[in-house]
Amino acid sequence: MVEVVICADAQALAASAAGLAVDSITDALAVRGRAVVALSGGRTPLELYRLLAIGVRRERIPVDRMLWIFADERWVPVSHPESNEGMARRILLEAIGAPESTILSWHAGSGDPVERGSRYADEIRGAAGPDDAPDLSILGIGADGHTASLFPGAFLKLPGGTSLPIGRDVPFNSSAVVAEPAGWRLTLCPRYLNTSRIALFVAEGAGKRESLRRAWKESPDIPASWIRGCDTIFMTTRETLGDAPPDYGGNVRFA
Ligand code: 6PG
Repeated sequence: MVEVVICADAQALAASAAGLAVDSITDALAVRGRAVVALSGGRTPLELYRLLAIGVRRERIPVDRMLWIFADERWVPVSHPESNEGMARRILLEAIGAPESTILSWHAGSGDPVERGSRYADEIRGAAGPDDAPDLSILGIGADGHTASLFPGAFLKLPGGTSLPIGRDVPFNSSAVVAEPAGWRLTLCPRYLNTSRIALFVAEGAGKRESLRRAWKESPDIPASWIRGCDTIFMTTRETLGDAPPDYGGNVRFA
């Protein structure tokens, strides 16, 4: 199922996304006894993560049965202000008392980015077991159509010095990428992200209008189009869509 959820404003978007995340986690724990959640960085999810922390505490979710992974990371240490993991720790993971054993770091910023990038998906499998699909992947969209660190025109950097243009069908689950001007990034790849039970895109701001429409329409030239979970939800706001919302077909819900 692919649907668009249109929220009244940014705060309503954060609240709806946090509520969906709590429900997804609760369902996963009931069915599989554990929940795997992939978190993204950027600005859009900040309030969502704050509200998610409140929801996790309110619902008394057993945090020792979670696994928090990161859809992508900048090549900086966790202490760096631009670290996605650092942001998630400050806003969400510390607020819920997430045990260290439930937080799977990319360990970015030291060592070899190519080695780190190529290893992360295996480490997820090691932590989650053979059923390593994310129950929920929270993803943003850039104005250029990127998601995670899958940037248009970027190259996967592979052990042995080879490069591969990113694409929907690259045969890897995680990798280091170089995308100017972003520089070194670490990212989960479509092949793994598409195992998500729910892929939740959160997009807010008029600058996202066109990339959101193209992601929905599966325009092949933007990476956000390559990501489809078992269910895929594009959660946005009325202001983002503007006065003349594109034709999203039947699967539109107002929250
Ligand atoms: C990152 C994110 C990235 C983000 C988009 C949207 O490392 O920055 O993973 O993919 O989701 O760039 O960012 P905003 O939410 O700040 O618009």
